Amino acid sequence: MQRKEFLDKLSGGLAFTCVSCMMAACSKDSNTSGDNSNTPGDTILLNIDPSTQLLAVKDFISSKGIIVVRIADGNLAGSFVAYLNACTHEGAIVEYDANTNGFICPRHGATYSISGAVTGAPAPAPLKTRTVAVSGSTLTVK
Ligand code: FES
Repeated sequence: MQRKEFLDKLSGGLAFTCVSCMMAACSKDSNTSGDNSNTPGDTILLNIDPSTQLLAVKDFISSKGIIVVRIADGNLAGSFVAYLNACTHEGAIVEYDANTNGFICPRHGATYSISGAVTGAPAPAPLKTRTVAVSGSTLTVK
């Protein structure tokens, strides 16, 4: 193989690789949604010990595609709210904002109330609610 032929093949391969990388980076599936690998349903998505975690109102945990916020004292199911943490616009991970007691999406600025309702565009739908149950020292989110 001649040097020029080698370089032509190499540059063609790099261009293909770069185009593939750019397309993957721009695809809808590539986002900051991180570990949103949970499948909602009857499967337990998250276990939390409320005797050592989420101790104060407005404490929150965002993990495994779920965001859980303590909204009241006591360790009852109603003391917490839980949602899939994927923004309903394009799936970025929403963050809890203690100042507004709601959620904000860092990607395009959508906002949600603590009940998951959309309070600011461009989110098209509320956050997806998950079920919270408390049994002894275990809080489960399904
Ligand atoms: S992905 Fe959340 S506002 Fe666009």
